[in-house]
Amino acid sequence: MPAVDLLADLREIVGDTHVVTDPEAAQPYAQDWTRRWHGKPLAVVRPATVAQVSAVLRACAAAGISLVPQGGNTGLVGGGVPHDGEVVLSLARLDSVGPLDPLGRTLMAGAGVTLAQLQRAARSAGLDVGLDFSARDTATVGGIAATNAGGERVMRHGAARFRIRGLEVVLADGSVVRRMSGVAKDNTGYDLVQLMIGSEGTLGVITAVQVDLIRPHKIVGTALVAVSTVDDALTVLRAVQRDFTGLEAAEFFHHDGLQLVLKHERLAQPFERPHPLYLLFDLADDDNRPDSFDELTALLTDLDCVRDVVLVATAAERRRLWELRELQTEAVSAEGVPVKLDVALPLNQLSNFERQLAEVVRPVARHAVSIIFGHIAEGNVHVNLLNALDEDAGGAVTEAVLDLVAALGGSISAEHGIGQANRRWLPLTRGSADLAAMRAIKQALDPEGILSPGRMLPDPVVPEPEPKPKVAAKKTTRTRARTTR
Ligand code: MLT
Ligand code: ZN
Repeated sequence: MPAVDLLADLREIVGDTHVVTDPEAAQPYAQDWTRRWHGKPLAVVRPATVAQVSAVLRACAAAGISLVPQGGNTGLVGGGVPHDGEVVLSLARLDSVGPLDPLGRTLMAGAGVTLAQLQRAARSAGLDVGLDFSARDTATVGGIAATNAGGERVMRHGAARFRIRGLEVVLADGSVVRRMSGVAKDNTGYDLVQLMIGSEGTLGVITAVQVDLIRPHKIVGTALVAVSTVDDALTVLRAVQRDFTGLEAAEFFHHDGLQLVLKHERLAQPFERPHPLYLLFDLADDDNRPDSFDELTALLTDLDCVRDVVLVATAAERRRLWELRELQTEAVSAEGVPVKLDVALPLNQLSNFERQLAEVVRPVARHAVSIIFGHIAEGNVHVNLLNALDEDAGGAVTEAVLDLVAALGGSISAEHGIGQANRRWLPLTRGSADLAAMRAIKQALDPEGILSPGRMLPDPVVPEPEPKPKVAAKKTTRTRARTTR
């Protein structure tokens, strides 16, 4: 089917105004937040119902045109931006919130509902989502589910897959799977909900989510602790965890990242003098101890490795400390387009990783400047390399860092996903049986390959053609393999 016929079909399904083909109007959907990943879509289609999503998928399949689902377009690995000629399927108009079941503690939301809207709905009933991160005003629940997003509360409440009880998903052939009974125990067959979570739009299009809500704890104190090294930060964390049970979040950032935030956001220095590294954490009132704020102050003051500390209790003061961490991404982006990596290390390898990072980056990107921050409790490090984009055109910088991560026993993608950015390097930490199983799942659910092709899975290994045997050859030649990168 020619592309013009597909466009006519799409207009029929969602209405003229919701099929965007003008390049300028399509621009916000065609480029990712970092400005690194972009493409020229055939069209952006904005359905308003699950029936329309289903019809769009059927039309694209019939036309043999691939599509990429997109939520708030806050992804950082190019998973939601189009390749040239693809259809962007924006889920933004699926934005209904509710109903909320206070007894079963679940909340329904369309894929286009933002995290902030979801949080407001949950909080209005005295509950919470248990997920939070800085892109909350734009990131949508469909994208959060599709990428198994993490963020700041993972150490306490788990990543998105722990917070989602049910999903509605449109499969590649347009059929709809709806698992939203809300019952907490359900062992009926394969867990398709969990399979779809984190599949990054390659197995189906998530159109609605049923969120498992939490009963929130009151935060009694937020601490910004200045230390010398990441090992010192872990020592502080261990001491707090030994004496209290309510640690809600634990983040870290370095001096250079803080300076970028202060420069771009015109904020005040939190301490009188600079320090190499900062640990930021929230303590909740789980222990119900009336003096926990004072006890925390005493603990932090007593620890030798603590260079300085700011401990606050009010919501406004907390927000000011959290800005110093949450605004790092924007401050980096204001400096330039970074090579962005999102890795996780075993905690006992964190300092090794930080030490060796410069050594592996320098030979491939001499002028790279690294800004590192992240979620320390999970060993999740966001590596942002400025002045290294050109050198990474062929992937040399990414490869150097991910090789190091794999050698130290870490994960090459902790919470941002694989998308376009990391797929080449999946074999670093996923064996051939693992990759074959993933490919089999993809083939079974999307045999025509119309959902987000060229994301998540690496191109298959293509065996070289057998060399023609020479007439006089005595030995057999072994088949070698090469990857199509
Ligand atoms: C964060 O933790 O701030 C986000 O994952 C965004 C980022 O890594 O830049
Ligand atoms: Zn993060």
